[in-house]
Amino acid sequence: MSDFKFPEGFLWGGAIAANQAEGAFREGGRGLSNIDVIPHGARRLEVKTGKVPRPELQKEEYYPSHKGIDFYHYYEEDIALMAEMGFKVFRTSISWSRLFPVGDEETPNQAGIDFYRNIFLECKKYGMEPLVTLCHFDTPMGLVEKYGSWRNRKVLDFFLRYAETCFKEFSGLVKYWLTFNEINIILHSPFSGAGIAFKEGENKAQITYQSAHHILVASALATKLAHEWDPGNQVGCMLAGGSFYPYSCNPEDVWESVKKEQENLFFIDVQVRGAYPSYARKLFRDKEVSLIMEEGDLEILKNTVDFLSFSYYTSRCVAADMSDKASSDGNIIRSVKNPYLKTSQWGWSIDPLGLRITMNQLYDRYQKPLFIVENGLGAKDEIKQDGSIQDEYRIDYLRSHIQAMKEAIDDGVELMGYTVWSCIDIVSASTGEMSKRYGFIYVDRADDGSGTLQRRKKKSFDWYKKVIESNGSDID
Ligand code: BG6
Repeated sequence: MSDFKFPEGFLWGGAIAANQAEGAFREGGRGLSNIDVIPHGARRLEVKTGKVPRPELQKEEYYPSHKGIDFYHYYEEDIALMAEMGFKVFRTSISWSRLFPVGDEETPNQAGIDFYRNIFLECKKYGMEPLVTLCHFDTPMGLVEKYGSWRNRKVLDFFLRYAETCFKEFSGLVKYWLTFNEINIILHSPFSGAGIAFKEGENKAQITYQSAHHILVASALATKLAHEWDPGNQVGCMLAGGSFYPYSCNPEDVWESVKKEQENLFFIDVQVRGAYPSYARKLFRDKEVSLIMEEGDLEILKNTVDFLSFSYYTSRCVAADMSDKASSDGNIIRSVKNPYLKTSQWGWSIDPLGLRITMNQLYDRYQKPLFIVENGLGAKDEIKQDGSIQDEYRIDYLRSHIQAMKEAIDDGVELMGYTVWSCIDIVSASTGEMSKRYGFIYVDRADDGSGTLQRRKKKSFDWYKKVIESNGSDID
């Protein structure tokens, strides 16, 4: 490993998402999005998971997305800080309802286009490539209310209009695109993931996989469109990654891990390989799912992605019988607590070797370049009396994962880049908290929305700057 070097042009950077950062939820003509009706507090989980049939704003509740970290007004300052760290790439997402406030309009909202153009121009000013997710937990409420979101095939056309608007308007500014963030999260958090809320008595699996089919067709068509608009565009799928370990070598546990792995990779199997996997038939039969497809859909799915991006926070562990074991559900996916691993303050297992394992498994399976577009540690930060934030725990986490990345590249895995989640503190997707902080940059905002919004560099800021400057050779 001593002579190891990250490839020239390796894309170091950081990531955020519109829904957790922008705030300004009613400014610039933006329409309401699914994220805006997901409250902080006790009801959050039931709304996120689609258990509330008609989620709507309620006076007594607090909605963290409405304010975010006000990236909408702070983006110049924030991007300048990212440039100071030497970012080569900055990942963010476009809020669909800024461009199409209800979702089914014929023409886009110019103020929304201008806002994102300015962001991308700002990135370019510093030589940073934008990496843009078209849909990161952000579906217009208009589409949820009028059409039932992705369960309705019409939404596919609205999405394509939106996607094509982005490819056209941001042509020459953006070349790296992701279609849907963590596509597999639809299985675990359908309302935040895809605007799906269930009605009493529905077959949830049927609705979920049918919606996912529409999303997969939309993703394939958007990929095709992106390539038509500019052959230089590179489009990726995006997986909530992390391998499933068997709890023991009991074949029953091993088989459970195989099934969970298949369930998790199901959608990207389609996006990367261009067809439903061989195990789909049995999975659909077991879950009583009967997909409605249109003629030509299977042909459309052959428009595969150029690269495979994923988030990695933790590995998972499963057993045939989970009922008698403690859980550690990192990133909303059910997992048994792995006795060999320490956990974060939020109970997510910390497993850098798991990143190497995940990378090797994904690359072996798909043989497409990988891009780690989320990895980081959510932790509580404390401001010392001298105003500094000594987040060594975050540095340790990132260092061990970058080391694992190096080893995976040395194993032969092709890796395009690495964007740390989240380069600046933003609202947590799972809990709605601000106190679950991931950033190199501290934002003075508390869980209840109070605070000055002032930005402050943490110790990890200079550390990451050095990592990038040395192209990953100095991670001490
Ligand atoms: C991923 C999402 O699931 O994990 C992000 O793509 C999210 O949106 C991140 O913020 C970390 O999760 P959390 O719940 O700690 O914010």
